[in-house]
Amino acid sequence: MSYELNILVTGANGQLGSEIRYLVMSDELGVMNENDLKFITQNSKFFFTDKSELDITKKEDIKKFVEENNINVIINCAAYTAVDRAEEEKDIADLVNHKAVKHLANTAKERNIPLIHISTDYVFDGENYKPYVEDDPVNPQGAYGLTKLKGEEAFKASGATGIIIRTSWVYSSHGHNFVKTMLKLKDRDELNVVFDQVGTPTYARDLAHAILEIINKNFEKIKNKKAEIYHYSNEGVISWYDFAKAIFEIENIDIKVNPIESKDYPTLAKRPHYSVLNKKKIKNEFNVEIPYWRESLKEYLQRINNG
Ligand SMILES: NC(=O)c1ccc[n+]([C@@H]2O[C@H](COP(=O)([O-])OP(=O)(O)OC[C@H]3O[C@@H](n4cnc5c(N)ncnc54)[C@H](OP(=O)(O)O)[C@@H]3O)[C@@H](O)[C@H]2O)c1
Repeated sequence: MSYELNILVTGANGQLGSEIRYLVMSDELGVMNENDLKFITQNSKFFFTDKSELDITKKEDIKKFVEENNINVIINCAAYTAVDRAEEEKDIADLVNHKAVKHLANTAKERNIPLIHISTDYVFDGENYKPYVEDDPVNPQGAYGLTKLKGEEAFKASGATGIIIRTSWVYSSHGHNFVKTMLKLKDRDELNVVFDQVGTPTYARDLAHAILEIINKNFEKIKNKKAEIYHYSNEGVISWYDFAKAIFEIENIDIKVNPIESKDYPTLAKRPHYSVLNKKKIKNEFNVEIPYWRESLKEYLQRINNG
């Protein structure tokens, strides 16, 4: 069988990569445009790789893999995402989030194939008072954000085509995330959660869906973009405190959640106080529909409760 596209997904065991894999492998393509997505999942060949199959810090391995499998598009979900640990492991974070992105982008450029790269709201300092647009000035506050920013810049400098999607507060059925942490703490009498960090959660399955939809309907368009940046999270605006409250409310868990200030919950890495992303550009250019955060959270909790 010959395929329309050979799609490489790196970091495929992580939160986002696993959700892409889930959508591709299952018949259940999510809530939006189900029929449309069947085209890409049935007519493309996906290569799901994580560190053990393809370590993105190894330049020659990337080249070889892309050539041998005649890859037409790379979705880079691989990253070093331990925000606090990155302060102590700056070199490793830089290797994965910056230098490896350079290798991927250079290979993409050489092969003339687009790269879809994922970045973060933590490139911003959080001093804004309204949702960040793509060309707002960046000013990362920690090592993670800085290495991710350098990754974006390396992609731009490579001359490769494709897009960068900045996202925020990701949770998924796979891996570690805030929702799972809250659920693990559910037997406590009370919990303190910061209310002065405001943003929007992103259900990784929604983002995975959006990425597949963009490739499916806009492949020609992304082939002509030069590392163009887009923002994607769920819709709405909340603090981590509100997020915790919503998780417990939806799950009918009786627990007292106390709003606290970030200064009373010291972490190694400084986080932006405000990192809401404006999604107008991705919605307008690619016709992506974005669910409201609470609807996605409900769907997610239902899924994990059903095993
Ligand atoms: N998580 C968030 O809240 C958040 C927020 C904003 C933006 N983002 C961005 O969204 C993207 C996806 O994040 P995620 O939450 O899905 O991350 P994740 O769950 O940490 O997944 C990243 C995956 O990449 C793998 N990886 C690490 N080093 C690698 C290497 N050298 N070669 C190949 N694979 C490697 C990891 O393996 P190991 O686990 O074995 O290291 C892991 O499976 C990332 O670009 C991240 O920066 C995430």
